Amino acid sequence: MILFPEFHRRYGPWAAIAGASEGIGRAYAHVLAERGLNLVTLARRLEVLEKDAQLIRRRHRVQVRPVSVDLADPELAARFDAAVAGLDVGLLIYNACHSRIAEFAATGLDDHMRMLDVNCRGPVALAQRLAPRLIERGRGGILLMSSMSGFQGSALVGTYAATKAFNTVLAESLWAELRPHGVDALACVAGATATPGFESATPESRRPKAFPMRPEAVAREGLDALGRKPVHIAGRLNRFVNAFARLMSRRQRTVFFSNATRGIYGPSGA
Ligand SMILES: NC(=O)c1ccc[n+]([C@@H]2O[C@H](COP(=O)([O-])OP(=O)(O)OC[C@H]3O[C@@H](n4cnc5c(N)ncnc54)[C@H](OP(=O)(O)O)[C@@H]3O)[C@@H](O)[C@H]2O)c1
Repeated sequence: MILFPEFHRRYGPWAAIAGASEGIGRAYAHVLAERGLNLVTLARRLEVLEKDAQLIRRRHRVQVRPVSVDLADPELAARFDAAVAGLDVGLLIYNACHSRIAEFAATGLDDHMRMLDVNCRGPVALAQRLAPRLIERGRGGILLMSSMSGFQGSALVGTYAATKAFNTVLAESLWAELRPHGVDALACVAGATATPGFESATPESRRPKAFPMRPEAVAREGLDALGRKPVHIAGRLNRFVNAFARLMSRRQRTVFFSNATRGIYGPSGA
């Protein structure tokens, strides 16, 4: 029995998730399977995807096609076409990102470029491949994961924050363009979330300062907001922080978030 028939009709029968092997992307996979969608799960580590696919198939009786892909691959669009070949994909979740938290000048150019590739070129490539098919179907969705850091500049995360601003604006633009065709788009804006990525970048003693959400909670909020609005900020605390930050000038906001970022990720953790 399908528990969410309207969701399944609109976004099924297949969903593709880019960055599905851990964290928020893995949570999306489990919540979508719970809603009866079959999954194409994309990430670099195939063995991790395969193991999770077995669990999802057993728990939810859906089909899962794990595919190893590097989202920074210059041939990404062709790889995505091959990954979803023959499947009626109604939903794209672009979750993966590359981030490096460090002073801009001390970060290698390779890292900066990888952030542009995975966080900006990737979503453009996948959305461009899928959008025409969704328009033809007259239903479906594209959800791009974004971040609170994309609302203003901040020390230590300049390139990452700029790529997240890109994700938010791209999703908003897709929302405006695709809506008349019956296709939904959403930027799901997360704040700190207790994922392996967050935990590896954040010293344990400082994690509570960031009030991290659970990945499942972020994924559920994102899917529930899809089709309702162009941008959704996950978590009540993050929505409050955003409303508070809107009262400041851009300069004040940039100083405020730079201090907060240095406090959590900087060398002294002051
Ligand atoms: N966690 C947070 O605190 C937080 C806060 C704000 C916003 N967000 C946003 O939420 C999203 C998810 O964050 P997250 O912390 O769950 O995870 P993440 O570290 O952004 O992404 C992890 C997933 O992406 C895959 N991935 C990374 N680089 C890849 C590449 N080059 N090719 C293919 N797959 C790649 C990883 O799999 P493999 O390693 O197997 O490739 C893994 O499945 C991101 O867009 C992030 O900007 C997160």
